[in-house]
Amino acid sequence: MKKKITLKWSEEKMQTKLLFGDDVLELHLPQFCKKRCDNYALITDSNLKSIHGEKLLELLNHQDVKTHLITIPAGEESKSREMKAQIEDEMFSHGLGRTSGVIAMGGGVVTDIAGFVASTYCRGIPFISVPTTLLSMVDAAVGGKTGINLPGAKNFIGSIYQPEAICIETTLLRTLSDAQMRSGVAEVIKYGLVWDKNLLDLMKKNHNKWLKRDLEFLTEIILQSILAKKAVTEKDPKEKGLRRILNYGHTVGHAFESLENYQIAHGDAVAIGLYIESELSERLGHLTQGEVAEIKEVLKLYDFPLKISSHITAENLLETMKRDKKATADEIRCVLLEKIGTPLLCDNLYCKTIDQTTLLNLLNQMLQELK
Ligand SMILES: NC(=O)c1ccc[n+]([C@@H]2O[C@H](COP(=O)([O-])OP(=O)(O)OC[C@H]3O[C@@H](n4cnc5c(N)ncnc54)[C@H](O)[C@@H]3O)[C@@H](O)[C@H]2O)c1
Repeated sequence: MKKKITLKWSEEKMQTKLLFGDDVLELHLPQFCKKRCDNYALITDSNLKSIHGEKLLELLNHQDVKTHLITIPAGEESKSREMKAQIEDEMFSHGLGRTSGVIAMGGGVVTDIAGFVASTYCRGIPFISVPTTLLSMVDAAVGGKTGINLPGAKNFIGSIYQPEAICIETTLLRTLSDAQMRSGVAEVIKYGLVWDKNLLDLMKKNHNKWLKRDLEFLTEIILQSILAKKAVTEKDPKEKGLRRILNYGHTVGHAFESLENYQIAHGDAVAIGLYIESELSERLGHLTQGEVAEIKEVLKLYDFPLKISSHITAENLLETMKRDKKATADEIRCVLLEKIGTPLLCDNLYCKTIDQTTLLNLLNQMLQELK
């Protein structure tokens, strides 16, 4: 399947070419690169270097796109100030300057840091993203958020910088582990819940296709997810309201990850978050029981365990959620659903303030079912 779409970012007067297809890297990327810059830094991580990075390097250089490969260690620790400086030093040593560009090939870690480097190197040089995880294809590579972590503060430093092109070659997902795939699946289900019921239906109907890496199915869900993310970010570029819905499932999900000492897969934590926040929507009088059952069924179809450790209690979950940056002293704000595909609008905000006693009671009831 081949697709070429232009994403127009009205706020920034920027356009991102979205290139889909089995031969995107071979045919379209070199052509695009040739027209744009004199030379490139191809940034990838240590896992991807040998499986996809060196091949892309060879392909680009073979087609006269002068490219230098820069490899960073795989993993979240690489999203640091030190690593950014290291990449910049390496780019400088290769003579890259104002007429150069950055190509990021990797998951969200690589696209986040490489995008940030591109946004500040010579005050901003063209950036091209080649996401290689499902999560980065449907989320991290789209929307322009780039960044690095401070010790103890994730994504604290960064910029909004749109890539000039996002090249999505779904065949790259063949080498991605099922656990990593599931992280992306949780995000796709999230878009279905907060924005596009048809996407959720598609996920439900075709649940047996993702494990086989059915490329047509993957292309369709990636495209629909990107369009959902674009629609939401376009309506709320400054994160004043609607964009909060993209956090659905994550307030609770992040708290679980933290309580499990990050020993739980990200996708599994987000899936539990999606389920609990849907249950909350029902218990607070918005979703129906039938809708919650449907959400649980879809999550189960994708083998999300929906199980938590016995040491997690409503009290420590609530405390951890309160540390979330969206919480104020005595209240927690949660994105809720009015129905599947439609977030709840409450006092002009896409989140509802829930007092602690109510939330504690509800969490107590819900957690029993997950142990
Ligand atoms: N900018 C945004 O809007 C945004 C949104 C969501 C997440 N993020 C960020 O994304 C990051 C998480 O991204 P991620 O889940 O893609 O993780 P990741 O980049 O760490 O990649 C996960 C692992 O998969 C490996 N890998 C990647 N592609 C592969 C492939 N095709 N085959 C085999 N192995 C492959 C990587 O080497 C790595 O070990 C976090 O830092 C998060 O903050 C950013």
